Amino acid sequence: HAVDWDPEETGKSGYEHYMLKEIHEQPRALRQCLRGRVNEMEGRVSLDVDFDPERVQFVACGTSYHAALCGAHLLQRSGIPAQAFLASEYATSPPPIGEDLVVGVTQSGETADTLSALREARRRGARTLAVTNVVGSTVSRECDQTLYVRAGPEIGVAATKTFAAQVVALTMLALTTDGEQRDAIAALRDLPGNVQAVLDSSTAREVAEEYVDSEAFFFIGRGLCYPVALEGALKFKEITYEHAEGFAAGELKHGPLALVTEDTPVFAVVTGDGELARKTIGNVKEVEARDAPVIAVTDGQSDVERYADHVLRIPTSEPRTAAVLANVQLQLVAYHTAAMLGRSIDKPRNLAKSVTVE
Ligand code: G6P
Repeated sequence: HAVDWDPEETGKSGYEHYMLKEIHEQPRALRQCLRGRVNEMEGRVSLDVDFDPERVQFVACGTSYHAALCGAHLLQRSGIPAQAFLASEYATSPPPIGEDLVVGVTQSGETADTLSALREARRRGARTLAVTNVVGSTVSRECDQTLYVRAGPEIGVAATKTFAAQVVALTMLALTTDGEQRDAIAALRDLPGNVQAVLDSSTAREVAEEYVDSEAFFFIGRGLCYPVALEGALKFKEITYEHAEGFAAGELKHGPLALVTEDTPVFAVVTGDGELARKTIGNVKEVEARDAPVIAVTDGQSDVERYADHVLRIPTSEPRTAAVLANVQLQLVAYHTAAMLGRSIDKPRNLAKSVTVE
């Protein structure tokens, strides 16, 4: 069922910007997204879509593309081959469709590039699923099925709560294919509260203050933390107008390391204490050796903090939900940096909330 958009939700309710308000609405958005869909007693997720694909192709743009990368990662983890495509590139070298389900991830449901990639897929015989926030949007009318993320209205051009809800919706989608999933379901149940804990305790403003005058800002991560690094950089460049880039941590040494200096803070997203964390910490040491300040966004399970100048802590949680928590810290860093620079946060120059031309 669709979410009701409460008109009271659409004022700034005391926040200086819609973006900050929407960052703070994430616990509520996630509760709405989860409501009635996860059954803790049975350890199951139930969504009102049929989802049993052989393989999945995601198409999306911007922040929604980063959510799609998370979705592809999570599906692969559940044993379903999945790939995320930039919608604007999809038609240039169309992948074979076969029995694939094509999933369009779009907050507005109106993004021209995403709609046209889905139309192309349908023309070639694909079944399609829309993952969107807007009830009755074009994408929901054109696709075979729709999964609503129920984040509520988002006014700020930079997507925040809708990204979190997209990732959670895609996490649930992946879990429907996976039988009993008590750990992940418990982590989803705790996620809104954990997001609140990040909002209540974040020191992102101090980090922003310390590095606001830097030359460029880099973001690194692996696995699910890679799309978080990309999204951290996108949010940052959108609203601060500063040079920000996200990299797969392992790619750093294949080029981007040439950019790293004492004037380029590197945000390292490291969760858990496994192989991925260990490898990213290796990359953190490479960055440190070039005198770059390191800001670790971490759940404290690994020893990355030993190599970091600043730590943005997130609660320890299941790896599948940690990405959303880490992203909240990066949203706050971007917000506070943009606020210090006096940028037009809710309506960044040259950008639109929804881009309806190709
Ligand atoms: C625009 C917005 C971005 C958004 C992208 C995709 O560029 O400024 O914030 O991520 O469109 O929008 P969609 O509505 O398809 O998620």
